[in-house]
Amino acid sequence: MECYLNNRFKVSALLICLFFVLGCKDNEEQAQVDEKETLVMYQPSEMAKLMNAFYDYNQSLKASIVKGESLKPMPKDFLKIHTAQMTDANGRNATFRGFAPAFLKAQQNVLDSLSQTNLKSRYNNTINLCIACHKTECVGPIPRIKKLLIQ
Ligand code: HEC
Repeated sequence: MECYLNNRFKVSALLICLFFVLGCKDNEEQAQVDEKETLVMYQPSEMAKLMNAFYDYNQSLKASIVKGESLKPMPKDFLKIHTAQMTDANGRNATFRGFAPAFLKAQQNVLDSLSQTNLKSRYNNTINLCIACHKTECVGPIPRIKKLLIQ
């Protein structure tokens, strides 16, 4: 009886060890897979880099508008919105193609000193177009983009 119990204990202990060893191995492999996927994901597309340039430029416009300083001209490479390679190759769909020119026009209008519309509205209109385009495809950055609005 004693022997039987002892063996049973050993078998259980062995099974438990095996379970942990296999479990750990699985986790390790999964971690390596996750790491590889993360590395791939962190390679920003040409469009993603352009979007970050949109963000930085508008952040500087906001600061200048609030302080009443003169505004930096729009960087020419913003026109690349029509051609830049995207993370999702099918991303340049009808919605995107509709919003892209409207956005560029609004962005250029911010600098139009002859406009009848006040500066703050022209600027916020641009940011609202960023948000409108993002609502259909790429909702992730919306909370960050909203911070660009001038209250
Ligand atoms: C015509 C549609 C459209 C407009 C307008 C637009 N975006 Fe985007 N935005 C996208 C799409 C699509 C992506 C995903 C790009 C990719 O991953 O290739 C994106 C990605 C982003 C990202 C994430 C970039 C990253 O690092 O992954 C930010 C931030 C961003 N946009 C901010 C803005 C801001 C700020 C504006 C306005 C000044 C703006 N977007 C205007 C469609 C748009």
